[in-house]
Amino acid sequence: MKLVVSPNLSLYSQMYDFAYVGQYSDDVNLAIECVERTGGPLVDYGCATGGRVLLPVLEKGHNVIGVDQNNDMLTVARQRFSDKHLARTTLIRGDFTRTDLPMPAGTATCLLNTIVQAADRSSHRRMLETVFRNLVEGGIFLVGIKNDNLAAYDSKGSKSRERKVVTPYGELTFKASWDVCLSTRIKTYIFTCVLKTHTGAVLEESFRVPTFLVNADEFCLDAQEANFVVESLWGDPKKSPYDAETSLWQMFLLRKN
Ligand SMILES: C[S@@+](CC[C@H](N)C(=O)[O-])C[C@H]1O[C@@H](n2cnc3c(N)ncnc32)[C@H](O)[C@@H]1O
Repeated sequence: MKLVVSPNLSLYSQMYDFAYVGQYSDDVNLAIECVERTGGPLVDYGCATGGRVLLPVLEKGHNVIGVDQNNDMLTVARQRFSDKHLARTTLIRGDFTRTDLPMPAGTATCLLNTIVQAADRSSHRRMLETVFRNLVEGGIFLVGIKNDNLAAYDSKGSKSRERKVVTPYGELTFKASWDVCLSTRIKTYIFTCVLKTHTGAVLEESFRVPTFLVNADEFCLDAQEANFVVESLWGDPKKSPYDAETSLWQMFLLRKN
């Protein structure tokens, strides 16, 4: 089969699965544990191509809903999912802070630091209200946010990272660099995706993603104000105890009841 990168879709959307699927799976296992507890459908907010979260949940037999504002990501999802999977999938293009679902979900997820792309606290509050409204009684909202709460993390830590992946299209390099403004709590990422194809062509794409540094205490307060019960806050998807100084992640398990 000849593999061609489509000029009609962003390079990032076409390469997303090579960069992320299989790289991180602990939070997906946690999502499966939640949907097995509360039932489906599972809605993934910011589902991208669906390859990382939606597909493994479909393979466990649950129906899924994906919400994303990026049409290219949803197009790739529609192209990659089999008809059998598509029949149990609802894909919605929309802003996850305000999109209502066609049916209530048993489990909602917003993983891999996606919620912070709604780059202010009032958007997070609106999203919490939206998710609460669209869950069944007893439903769960699982949120994974990087613990960027420390000034030390950004001032002493690396300000960029790079990863190479071999894909059927050629060698892919994913770069991320970032800057933090502590007064506004905005961390701006620049993501760059470079593909050296087997024919020698080099395709490159860069984009900026502003994010909001989330404080766990504030997020718990906002969740409670949206009527959620904060059932757990872990320091990573393996359920390690949360420590504001050292944990890499803030994994929130919020329950509606
Ligand atoms: C890190 S990626 C996908 C994460 C995916 N849930 C996973 O775990 O692999 C973030 C996705 O969120 C989407 N996104 C960001 N802000 C959004 C918003 N306000 N509404 C809907 N989608 C959004 C982006 O288009 C992107 O596809």
